[in-house]
This record gives sequence, C-alpha cells and structure tokens, in this order.
Amino acid sequence: MDNLIVEGGVPLHGTIRVSGAKNAALPILASALLTEGACTFRNVPRLRDIETMAALLRFMGAETEVEPPMVSVRTGHLKRTEAPYELVKQMRASVLVLGPLVARYGRARVSLPGGCAIGARPIDQHLKGLEAMGATIRLDHGYVLAECPRLRGATIHLDMATVTGTENLMMAAALAKGHTQLIGAAREPEVEELARVLNKMGARVDGAGTDVIHIEGVDELHPIDHAIIPDRIEAGTFMIAAAATGGDVLVDGVVPEHVEPTSAKMRAAGVDIVREEGGLRVRSPGARELRGVDITTAPHPGFPTDMQAQFMALMTLARGTSVVTESVFENRFMHVPELSRMGADIEVRGRVAIVNGAPSLEGASVMATDLRASACLVIAGLVAGGTTEVLRVYHLDRGYEAIEKKLGPLGARIRRVRGNA
Ligand code: EPU
Repeated sequence: MDNLIVEGGVPLHGTIRVSGAKNAALPILASALLTEGACTFRNVPRLRDIETMAALLRFMGAETEVEPPMVSVRTGHLKRTEAPYELVKQMRASVLVLGPLVARYGRARVSLPGGCAIGARPIDQHLKGLEAMGATIRLDHGYVLAECPRLRGATIHLDMATVTGTENLMMAAALAKGHTQLIGAAREPEVEELARVLNKMGARVDGAGTDVIHIEGVDELHPIDHAIIPDRIEAGTFMIAAAATGGDVLVDGVVPEHVEPTSAKMRAAGVDIVREEGGLRVRSPGARELRGVDITTAPHPGFPTDMQAQFMALMTLARGTSVVTESVFENRFMHVPELSRMGADIEVRGRVAIVNGAPSLEGASVMATDLRASACLVIAGLVAGGTTEVLRVYHLDRGYEAIEKKLGPLGARIRRVRGNA
C-alpha cells in the first residue's frame, strides 16, 4: 500500500481545481440502472470508490466505460440483480443499487454493509421505505432480499435525514406507481443533484433540497448525458489546508453555497474567504494566528461530518479552546490519537472533543482507517515541523483524486512512496 511523505511548514499559494463530487457521482452511477440505454456522466472524479461502483455495475451485467472524467454506463438486461459482499464491504455506497434494482427489475439481493470504521451505520430506513412502497424484505445469510413486481407510491417518514437512504428511496419512487412523499429527507447538495439527474431522465421529483420531497412515479426513464457538481468536501479540505498553512489559494470551481457551513466557521476563526470569479479565495495568517471555534456536526445545512476531522486539524494550533461535537456518527474521532502523537492537545469525552491550541505540531508516522481522518492527517502534516508519513493512503484514494499531484503545485512538499504497511 502506498504512503505519503509530507514535509511541513510551507504556506500554500496558487490555484487548485476541484474535482467532481464523489458522493454525487456514486448515486448517479447507480441511477443508470433505472434506464435502458447508455448514460454518459462527465466531471466524474478518478477515485477508487468510482471504480468499485463501476465494478459492481459490471458484475450485474452492465457495460461500463470508465475514463474519468467521463464514465458511461449501459444497462440492458442484467445478468443478476445482486450486490455481493466482496464489493459492498469495500464500499458501503454499493447499497445505492438497492432502490433502482427493485424499482426496475422487481428484485434485488444486496449484502448488508455491516458496521464500519466510523459507526454502526444501519440501513433500516432504506428498508422501511421500500417496505412502505410494497416491497417484501427478507434477510438471508447477511443479504437483504427485496422483491416487488411494481413498487407503489407511499408516504414515508424518515427517522433521520439519511443521505443514501433518501437517495435510494428517491430512485425507487421515480419508477413506482403513484405519488411518494419523503418526509424528513436529507437536504444535502448531492441529493439535489440526484433529483436533477432523475428529472433529466424524465422523472418527476420536486422539493429536493428541502426536507419534504415529492416524487410522482413514471413508467420509464431515458438515458442522459450529465456533468456532475464539484465536490464540496474536497473543496473544503483544500480551503482548510490553505488556511492552516497561512496560504493564499484560489479554490477554483467550488460552489460557494455548498461550502458555506464550513466557510462560516473558518471565517469565525479568522480566515479571510472571498468570492472571486470561478471560486473562493482563501487567505489566512496561519493556524497559530486563528481563534478556536466550536463546531457541532449535523445534516446539511449544518456543519458536515465529512469536514469534522479536517477542521479539527486546523483547531489543533488555533489560539484557545475549541469544542468539536460529532453528532452524526458515533465513532468518528479516530484521527484524535494520531493528532495527539503529533503534539496536539485533545481530550475526548464521548462524542465531544476538547481541543486546546498547541504551540506546534511535529511530524510523525500516522495512520487512519477512514477517508476524512486521513485527509486531516495530511493537513496536520502540512503544518507540522519536519516529516510526516501518512500510512495506508488507500483510504485517502477512495475520496481524493491524486491529492499529492493537486497540492504539489501549490508548494506543498508531498510525495507518494510505495510502502509495505
Ligand atoms: N442511519 C441509520 N439508519 C439508516 C440510515 C442511516 O441509523 O437507515 C444513521 C447512520 O448510522 C448515521 C446517520 O444516520 O448515524 C446518518 O447517516 P447517513 O445515512 O446520512 O450516511 P450515509 O448516507 O451512509 C453519506 C455519505 C457519507 C457522509 C454521510 C453523512 C455517501 C456515499 N456517503 O453516508 O460520506 O458522511 O452521508 O453526511 O454519500 C465520506 O464521503 O467520507 C462519507 C463517509
């Protein structure tokens, strides 16, 4: 597995381009199952998770052409309507094929994802919604078997604003008979983007981006050509890297509204963020000159849980104390012991981390088993004195397109080496 070697202490300067959004691309690739014919998607990031989703579609018999930023998917008659454990365990988002499969093919056999590094992450809301639409659901040797010749519209109250749950049910309802109402839906920009894609295919989805989504089922959907929105989490990660190092960086292609929950907290800490043609310019006097601010993660438009680890890296050096509360996932602080090994002063009490600004961080060998935690360690490496070795970049590659190649031109001293870890 590859490792990253980061030499800290260089302020980042220049322009960095944001790639397409991973968490928008994954449900959108799955949505191709709803149509007959070839869909072409553009601005798709070159990521391991995208390859996994394409492998899953191929496993079922779809034809794919994966040449990021272009990916095309043709689903005619599938050989099987199944997501096997081998692929689901690599990527939980594989469960996004469940809704489209039941809606278009009448049946699906999808491995239960099980727990993962950041929490238990059940899919009960996905299943409850499909049942309300008439599917019979059985659990069989670790697999969910869902069947229904034709789903029918229903009113579904979600117990929490689950992102992939909302997406799965929206896709299922698009081909159901009659009207579906999703109440308590997730409002993330990726949900809105999926609704845009479905509507382009001929679906009738209304209200995405609010907590009540209406879907009027149609009999069939047609293939489309679509360019995917920029990745707000990748953008936010670059913004924090710029701020932490005391840099001046134009984050090109970011949609300012999508990163506003992160920008607002960065501004409160003392970072200067202004709109410029094409993106956001981030200027900062450096992490040591910033103020500690508190964050609590929450579904959109709250502070994103996917930015919590990176923001904490920024707070490790900010003046004063900041309180970081993780309210979305129960176990998303695995970066804390690694940051502590680099000299951070952090105390965890349940879902709360109390971060006291430290005078400096020092390089160390560190490792994380979650994508965003790994990004946090890269940021910490960029501000630490000396050399940081981020082990098992495997996780980072799931969600960041060649991060060393993107940060390098900004002045970051970061390179990839082949490791044995
Ligand atoms: N939940 C349930 N039951 C369900 C569904 C969710 O209890 O049926 C709980 C989860 O356990 C969690 C909370 O609800 O505590 C929210 O989870 P959600 O379902 O919204 O998460 P997700 O859809 O599995 C997506 C992103 C994650 C991101 C979360 C939260 C994709 C492919 N993944 O996951 O992204 O953290 O929403 O915003 O969209 C990442 O990119 O690093 C990543 C983990």
